[in-house]
Amino acid sequence: MSDVKITISEAGSYKVEGEVALVDFEGNRIETREGKPFFLCRCGESSNKPFCDGTHKTCGFDGRLAER
Ligand code: FES
Repeated sequence: MSDVKITISEAGSYKVEGEVALVDFEGNRIETREGKPFFLCRCGESSNKPFCDGTHKTCGFDGRLAER
């Protein structure tokens, strides 16, 4: 078990914590701030994908999870 934690926020991004490599579809590494959490867009509207830029707050995104 790794020490990576991904938290799904109630109304926005995925918060990623821990030692993890973020890569694109070709396997190229995407830089993140070492030792700091980063936030991935979940709404699809960020201008800075794959990272969240806060647009989820104004685009009408409904981040509630479906019934389990
Ligand atoms: S989740 Fe924040 S901009 Fe998409």
